[in-house]
Order: sequence, then structure tokens, then C-alpha cells
Amino acid sequence: MSVYSDQAPNPVAAVVILAAGEGKRMKSSRSKLLHEIAGHSMLSYAVTAATVVQPEHVVVVVGHLRDQVEAHLAEIAPHVLIAVQEQQLGTGDAVHAALGQLESLSGDVIVTYGDVPMLTGETLASLLREHQARQAAVTVLTAEVPDPSGYGRILRDRDGMVSGIVEHRDADDAQRLITEINSGIYVFDSATLATALTEIAPANDQGELYLTDVVTVVRKTDKPVAAMLIDDLWQTEGVNDRIQLSRMNAEVNRRILQHWMREGVTVVDPATTWVHASVDLAPDVILLPGTSLEGATSIGAGARIGPDTTLIDMEVGENAVVSRTQASLSVIGPGANVGPFAYLRPGTTLGAGGKIGTFVEAKNARIGAGAKAPHLSYLGDAVIGEGANIGAGVIFANYDGVRKSTSSVGAYSFVGSNSVLAAPVEVADGAYVAAGSTITGDVGPGDLGVSRSRQRNVPGWVARKRAGTKTAQAAEAALKQQEPS
Ligand code: UD1
Ligand code: CA
Repeated sequence: MSVYSDQAPNPVAAVVILAAGEGKRMKSSRSKLLHEIAGHSMLSYAVTAATVVQPEHVVVVVGHLRDQVEAHLAEIAPHVLIAVQEQQLGTGDAVHAALGQLESLSGDVIVTYGDVPMLTGETLASLLREHQARQAAVTVLTAEVPDPSGYGRILRDRDGMVSGIVEHRDADDAQRLITEINSGIYVFDSATLATALTEIAPANDQGELYLTDVVTVVRKTDKPVAAMLIDDLWQTEGVNDRIQLSRMNAEVNRRILQHWMREGVTVVDPATTWVHASVDLAPDVILLPGTSLEGATSIGAGARIGPDTTLIDMEVGENAVVSRTQASLSVIGPGANVGPFAYLRPGTTLGAGGKIGTFVEAKNARIGAGAKAPHLSYLGDAVIGEGANIGAGVIFANYDGVRKSTSSVGAYSFVGSNSVLAAPVEVADGAYVAAGSTITGDVGPGDLGVSRSRQRNVPGWVARKRAGTKTAQAAEAALKQQEPS
């Protein structure tokens, strides 16, 4: 972007992030800055970009819904300073509020917005290098856009030096034809900025204090104002409504998927695959259509995820297969198999080569290597040993209406279908539970636990009680076949 790009920039005194505006068009009770792109708040991207240039301070100017914004910042970036702008009197006033938090400032100050999530720290670093190399008093990040309406236009003098910025609503017809726009992102020499801010006036259509007027003030003192043109227009794009939010989310997602495809991940259908910025994927992962990977999820090499699978804060081992599954805060071991139609709730760990199959729900379940629960089960607060087999329809009944308890099944044990383990019970290593049992006491090593009434048949019942039905006819035919001819 710049001929100076390979020089290391000098340290930055502060990055000021403007985030006091109302965001009316979002029509949300939640601050616009907290709406998410690829799983992270818009504001968090601004803070992350600011951090890349290693400023002494980051100041966020808050106003509208500031309680929400401050609470969020305390969580994601407790180191940032907060400046309160009680009334949104304009971008110039907002920066003035920020400087109030920064006594005895010297060096450069970057100003950026909280609602421009695709702006990268690398772009801020190049803007800073440009600014310092040109020894400018102000450097503006600008863009050439096909439709400049609504934006501030960059005015240049005969030598090409930036001479001012005029807002769309204040511009005349000739100025409106200018397609180079102000991104709203700048580097200022701090002393120049502080002085110029005292000289601007709300003499414009909106009656606001415009930060853009600082440029005109600075030019009058003959200090150099530089501009850096950015090619990637997405980086200066703000989000003002939910349509822009979804478009930008799709663009960020597209870039994330491209990154992973370049790293050796197969994405069968990028249009229906969503991967958060914080996810980590190994080579030869295959993502099938309808897959959503969120939060701190990591997927090991060769694993196959999807279709129609949502994984949140999950760790999936190498060569695992996870299909049509919803899972969060759990671990799926290498070579394990999950789904189709499984639900893994927090605290589940499935060992290497294990299986959690169709219509199985697990919660806080530690399942050993090679253990299997293939069909229709609830594994709540369960400890299941290596190689154990949990039959179809087995329920770990962990809740007695007052408290939850854990049950365990030992290594290579076998729990017959449709059994209930009423917690807390222990089925030892190498034990069996007969199908259909309700287990309320422990089963020792090598024992068979049976808890159900013995089967009894009533001969001829159908002929007596259901005479004339198709069932009775079928019984008669079957009995005839059994008769010795
Ligand atoms: C601003 C620029 C314009 C530029 C555009 C790029 C000015 C006068 N104009 O216009 O040249 O092309 O950004 O998007 O600066 N904010 C506050 N406090 C305020 C006012 C705004 O914190 O009192 C924050 C807003 O939350 C927002 C940012 O500053 O994040 C920009 O404010 P906005 O009112 O949207 O400015 P624009 O009219 O878009
Ligand atoms: Ca705006």
C-alpha cells in the first residue's frame, strides 16, 4: 500500500475508538457495537486492531447504551480507558472527550470507529508508517468508492495535498462528484490535534463539531496533511443496519473459509458453512454443508464434520466423524464417531474411537476409549469405562428431583437395551446388566445385574380373548404349520 511499508513505525501515544453514537437503524435494545460478526462483537475487532499498533493507551468514547458497552469492555479488554460523551455533539466533540482522559499526551494519536469491524491492525500500522514517513500533522485513510453519497469528500489542492474534508450534506454539486471519501480513520500529531479541536465550530448543516474540520484548520497553519488510499473497501465499511451486518458477516466468513481452504481444509459448500474467527482447523478437515463452528472450537486433522452440525467451544480429535450433531464445551477423541442426530452438552468427553450414536444425548459424561452408546440414550453425569457397550435406549437417570448424581459403568461392561441406571450406582468392570433392568444397586465385577420380572406366557390367550381378529387368524395359521403333517 505504501512505499514506506517496511519501516517499523514509532510508538503510538493512543488509539481513540469512537463508539458513542446511537446506531438507530439497528432497531435494537442492544448497543450496535455488541452485535457480532463471525462470533465477536464489532467493538472487539476495533480493540484488536488498535492493539496491533501497540499504543500506550486505548480510549473508547462511549455514550449511547454506555452501561452495556462498558460492561462488555470490562470483559474483553479491561485495559482500555473509557471516556464518556454525555451528548453526541459530533466526532470532534467525541475526540475532545477522549483527550480529556489522556493528560500530557505527546506523539501520534490514531482515531477510528467502533463500528468498522473489518479494519485491520495492519492497515492502522501502514497508515501510521505513512504518517511518520511524510512527517505529516494529519494523515487520513481514504477510499475511492463507486457511490460516495453520504460520506465526507476529500478536497485536494493543486499539488494534490489534502486541503479539507466536506461532508456530503454540506458539499456543493461539484464537490459531490468527488469519489474519494473520508473513511473517518486518521493519525494526528497529538499537539496539533489538541490545538485544532479548540478552533473548530459547529458551523454546518447538523450543528455538530466535526472532526473533519480539524483538517482545514491544520492546513491553514501550513502543516502537511497526508492521505493514504486503501484498496480493500470492506475495511472502511461501517455497519449501520442489519442488512449491512449480514453482508459483512458473509464477507468475513468468506475470507475465513478462504483462509482455511488455503491451509488444506475442504469446504464442500461455503455458502452454508459458518466458521467463527476464533476457530482452529487442521489440514484435511472436511466440512460438509450446513456446518457451523463457533467459539473456541478446534478440529484435528482428517476429521469430517457435518452435514448440518453446530459445534460450540468443542475439541474434536484427528479423523473423528461428527454428523448432524449439536455439541458444546465437550471433547470428541481421535477417530471417534458422533451422530447422526446426537446432542452433546457441556462436560462430555468421548475417548478415542468411541461412539455416541443416533438420538443420544450426553451431559457431563466421561466416556472411555472405544466405548459405545450407539442408539437412543441419555448419558447424564455418567462415567463409562474403556470398551463398554451401552445398549439401545439406556438411560442414566441422574436426577432424583432434588439432586443430580453420577453413575458409572466399568471397562468392557455391557448394559443391555432399555435399562435404567438410577444414580448413584456403580456397574463394575467386566459386568453385565440384563436388558430392560432398572438398576438401583451396584453390580460387581463379572456379575450380571437383572432387575425385572420373569417372563410368563399364557397359552391360547389370543384365541380366547381376540377370536375373529386377523391376529387370531394369523395365530391359527401359524399353529397349523407347526402341526406334524
Ligand atoms: C463521519 C465523517 C465522514 C466520513 C464518515 C465515514 C465527520 C464529521 N464525518 O461521518 O467524513 O466519511 O464518518 O463513515 O466526522 N460518534 C461519536 N460521537 C458523536 C458522533 C459520532 O462517538 O458525537 C461516533 C459514532 O458512534 C460513529 C462515528 O463516530 O462510530 C461516526 O459518526 P457518524 O455520525 O456516523 O459520522 P458520519 O456522518 O458517518
Ligand atoms: Ca457512519
